[in-house]
Amino acid sequence: MPQTLSVIKADIGGFVGHSAMHPEVLNEGRERLAQAVQSGLLIDAQAQACGDDMFLIMSHDRGQDNVDIHRFAWDTFVSGTEIAKKLKLYGAGQDLLVDAFSGNIRGMGPGSAELELVERQSEPVMVFMGDKTSSGSFNLPFYKMFSDPFNTAGLVIAEALHAGFAYEVQDLKNHKKIVFNSPEEIYDLLVFIGSPAHYAIKRVVARSTGEVAAVSSTEKLSLIAGRYVGKDDPTAIVRMQGAFPAVGEVLEPFTTPYIVEGFMRGSHYGPWMPVAMADATPSRFDGPPRVVALGFQLANGKLVGPRDMFADVSFNNARQEANDISDFLRKHGPFEPHRLPLDEMEYTTMPAVAAKMANRWADI
Ligand code: F6R
Ligand code: MG
Ligand code: MG
Repeated sequence: MPQTLSVIKADIGGFVGHSAMHPEVLNEGRERLAQAVQSGLLIDAQAQACGDDMFLIMSHDRGQDNVDIHRFAWDTFVSGTEIAKKLKLYGAGQDLLVDAFSGNIRGMGPGSAELELVERQSEPVMVFMGDKTSSGSFNLPFYKMFSDPFNTAGLVIAEALHAGFAYEVQDLKNHKKIVFNSPEEIYDLLVFIGSPAHYAIKRVVARSTGEVAAVSSTEKLSLIAGRYVGKDDPTAIVRMQGAFPAVGEVLEPFTTPYIVEGFMRGSHYGPWMPVAMADATPSRFDGPPRVVALGFQLANGKLVGPRDMFADVSFNNARQEANDISDFLRKHGPFEPHRLPLDEMEYTTMPAVAAKMANRWADI
């Protein structure tokens, strides 16, 4: 019977400001997950944090888009919000954009990535957690993992990967989707995924077997709410080894801290820094953006792990480079290209400021 891995995440209050999660809120998530395992709703589960976001990592056999799983995640965020309110944590309940749960968590604020799989003899999976960045930020690393032979040696030398992968790309602004086959359509693919604020890779499928290799959360808070409510802070799940890229091929893209949208006020470009769980507490200029990689072996649906994969000296250069890039970009202050271009600023707090000047503009 296929199993499902669901990662559903939300920012329900920060400690201090937007820099981290309070242990009591995380603990509430952990206790509720333990109860859900006890009751048989879930096979196994963990609550983990990256910055001020809580990620519910849930293994079950109810399939994706399951109403009971989604309602449970929503209720867990609601009860965590109550604790965040009691402690007067910052932005308590921030990502819960509606008053009541209505069937599916998508479109209600939290982000979700769900993947169905038939567990192999050995099933290594990676759960990525991002903070101070946006959905779409996995576009570049996914491309490297599944299409770039300079990143993924298996695309060249492993028979199981040679057939390539297919990408489902979502047009986030117009609510449309399209599938591109790699390698033969990579130029067409890149036309779109090179604009991650508009087009995001939802899932990647192994063409050899038809199995889903990777999935990411593509919910965009600003497009749901129609205003600025913090960033989407995405998550992703990636299957590894065999017909999928190896663990090291899945991590290799993060040796370069590529520039992503987010950072202070969700309004700046900054380097995406791979960090250990202990360093997932963005404090400098509310950043720089972070990504944590949690490695698991699945054993009959049980989550064996996590291994904190970026807690490895081989990512020190990437972290150093991210700090150097941050130093350089910060010198630009409020100027582009550190600050986002105007059309991306539409969903920040800036238009309200600009509106006050509207009647002072005269014709030239
Ligand atoms: C970025 C983020 C923070 C806040 C900033 C201002 O994703 O959440 O950078 O935008 O700390 O927060 P407010 O407007 O809540 O004072
Ligand atoms: Mg926050
Ligand atoms: Mg966050």
